Amino acid sequence: MTNPPMTIPPLTHPPTAPLPDSGPAATGNTTGDPRAALAAVQAEVRKAVVGQEAAVTSLLIALLCSGHVLLEGVPGVAKTLLVRALAAALSLDTKRVQFTPDLMPGDVTGSLVYDARTAEFSFREGPVFTNLMLADEINRTPAKTQASLLEAMEERQVSVDGTPRVLPDPFIVIATQNPVEYEGTYPLPEAQLDRFLMKVLLPVPERQQEIEVVARHAQGFNPRDLAGAGVSAQASATDLAAARAEVQRVEVAPEVLAYMVDLCRATRHSPSVLLGVSPRGATALLATSRAWAWLSGRTFVTPDDVKALAHPTLRHRLALRPEAELEGVTAESVLTSILATVPVPR
Ligand SMILES: Nc1ncnc2c1ncn2[C@@H]1O[C@H](COP(=O)(O)OP(=O)(O)OP(=O)(O)O)[C@@H](O)[C@H]1O
Ligand SMILES: [Mg+2]
Repeated sequence: MTNPPMTIPPLTHPPTAPLPDSGPAATGNTTGDPRAALAAVQAEVRKAVVGQEAAVTSLLIALLCSGHVLLEGVPGVAKTLLVRALAAALSLDTKRVQFTPDLMPGDVTGSLVYDARTAEFSFREGPVFTNLMLADEINRTPAKTQASLLEAMEERQVSVDGTPRVLPDPFIVIATQNPVEYEGTYPLPEAQLDRFLMKVLLPVPERQQEIEVVARHAQGFNPRDLAGAGVSAQASATDLAAARAEVQRVEVAPEVLAYMVDLCRATRHSPSVLLGVSPRGATALLATSRAWAWLSGRTFVTPDDVKALAHPTLRHRLALRPEAELEGVTAESVLTSILATVPVPR
């Protein structure tokens, strides 16, 4: 079997291009144009994060889809900085949780606490009761605590002591993880990875971008002080809701829809794949392709949109056969060859 490239960067097609410039950003209030508001968010994130355009675009797409994101990269490539900058650029309620080995499920979802004055138990909300939750280093916490978050992500509610409690809308989790499995880390269960809309990779920057990162530090950039770097909120929940309504109106021709399904079905027939992309994965590809088409200023989805979103939307939904993995096959290489062989509608 030939070995296609191990990884390709996400959104290598047109999506690395910046969003259409919105002109001078409004100071923290909405312009009434949701696409301009999102472009302003992207510009704010750029004040803190050098490059990583594909990842920034992917996070905007996830916001538009109200989908959860798994952000993966080796230590020190600005995973945390990117998500913190995105949170600072949005006027949404955000909470950040550092996942540690001793974190308990109740620390994530909330728990019943006893009030001695009233002699009653009352529910104290955990950090999942927010709009944008940063689940930092999710693979450092044991399975039980991961499961409580993954359940909340899927159900969009938590049940403590038999009482269901609905989470705010939007509720989006951006979880970061390190691809290197250190001792004392807990890989996410494969079956639950399907709950993430996208898996976004943060590559190590090119030389020129790394020079820019260091140069910014030389000029006094402090990653702990985003307000000092001038990052301020540019879009609200109202902007996101308006944007989502527009995304819903983006048209998908029947043949483009069938193309999405054919790509997903092809993963199930690949000899290297144990478990292919689920129908949920196909609906995810529809959602992300539509959001990207809208961000690019179009009212319809093209096959190129689908191709651009296939890797970040599907890469974590494939389980490979162990023998294929030993031969060096990766989810990326399977997707690359499927994209090269499934007939593209014209
Ligand atoms: N692309 C970049 N743009 C701006 N700063 C960067 C970039 N890449 C790395 N840095 C710098 O590296 C620092 C480390 O980033 P951060 O803490 O976000 O990394 P991380 O990927 O979350 O690492 P870990 O896996 O250890 O948590 C940042 O605070 C920033 O100063
Ligand atoms: Mg980090």
